[in-house]
Amino acid sequence: MLNFSFSNVTRIHFGEGQIQVITKEIPADAKILLVYGGGSIKNNGIYEQLSLALANHSVVEFSGIEPNPSYETLMKAQALITENSLDYILAVGGGSVVDGAKFIAAAACYEGQDPWDIIAKRERIRAALDIGVVLTLPATGSESNSGAVVTRHGHKGAFSSPLVRPKFAVLDPAVTLSLSDRQIGNGVVDAFVHTMEQYLTYSVNAKVQDRFAEGLLQTLIEEGPKALAPATKNDLAVRGNIMWAASLALNGLIGAGVPQDWTTHMIGHELTAAHGIDHARTLSIVLPAVLKVRRSVKREKLLQYADRVWGIKDGDEDARVDQAIAATEAFFTAMGLPVRLSEVDLGAEHIDELLAKLTEHGMVKLGEQGEVTPVISRQILEMAV
Ligand code: NZQ
Ligand code: ZN
Repeated sequence: MLNFSFSNVTRIHFGEGQIQVITKEIPADAKILLVYGGGSIKNNGIYEQLSLALANHSVVEFSGIEPNPSYETLMKAQALITENSLDYILAVGGGSVVDGAKFIAAAACYEGQDPWDIIAKRERIRAALDIGVVLTLPATGSESNSGAVVTRHGHKGAFSSPLVRPKFAVLDPAVTLSLSDRQIGNGVVDAFVHTMEQYLTYSVNAKVQDRFAEGLLQTLIEEGPKALAPATKNDLAVRGNIMWAASLALNGLIGAGVPQDWTTHMIGHELTAAHGIDHARTLSIVLPAVLKVRRSVKREKLLQYADRVWGIKDGDEDARVDQAIAATEAFFTAMGLPVRLSEVDLGAEHIDELLAKLTEHGMVKLGEQGEVTPVISRQILEMAV
């Protein structure tokens, strides 16, 4: 196993009705900016629960943080902070709202000229407002990690700082019952791919991380389809298992001390930025192609994945790798996601433009060994057509 330092300071409050803990979690004298998305929280009872819990707090609201949050929208929220001298951010929503809150929290304390430099110039964050989260969509793990993704002028850029890791996160599976099948499928596949990108590289004999990752993958494979099936879709145990798996998939635990390969996410971000495809639907298209193109360098882990996650034991090594990749694609399809570019009306003619963007954004040495150059990314995209 590789050396690592690990800490995760986010207090998790898991379970039905836990939204009420925010009354005590947020200091009584805090001046809160409540941020949320396009309004789903007003249709599913979350907003009423928040209003009760925050009845004695001082709250200013900002709604309209869109999926793949834009810099322009977030800077409007940041202006409210300055205007009203606010000092705490409560994010209520999915990954986009939580990521947006992280950017606002850092921008509010940024002393340079343009907060976009936090992403564009990788400026170090020296201070940020405290953040609390009520998660409504299990997927990104953003509720207890230090990363965020923000879009500006067709660039989906990421930043990370321990200072924006939420102080607490409420994970109430009941609030996920209002999700559409599309968002349920997206969330399960996003969490699955996060796990794969920290697991399916090369072995460093990190037994705990491997077994945790395999447990998360198996949980998502077992529970994901139940959250779509009419007979089980309202089962809170199913929703709870998915919610906790998605959180653990990207809270830093399984990625500590192991090599990581974020090729799928980096290529996926370009697909979203250029063509507006949902985040998870870019991943379900790119990951199988990454596994196919990189099968020789990932061979040992692919065989372990085939055996331990899918129980594939028959056939020679090549046949077992083929079966594991096919099983992965079938799972994504069962969750309602595309696995080829053609399923989202894209083709070989779009590859040059995507590669140009990857290069422009410095994504020229991806993969666990930095070997995924634009030449390899081209092979991956061609494989995904
Ligand atoms: O805006 P509202 O009206 O709330 O509707 C949202 C939105 O339209 C809806 N939704 C959320 N909770 C709901 C609900 N609808 C009904 N009932 C509920 N309980 O779902 C839609 C999508 O929400 P969004 O937040 O965009 O989805 P997701 O959680 O998948 O987040 C995606 C964003 O996270 C970034 C992605 O790049 C993308 O911008 N990521 C962040 C990561 C991180 N910080 O670690 C890692 C990920 O890899 C990912 O890149
Ligand atoms: Zn993701």
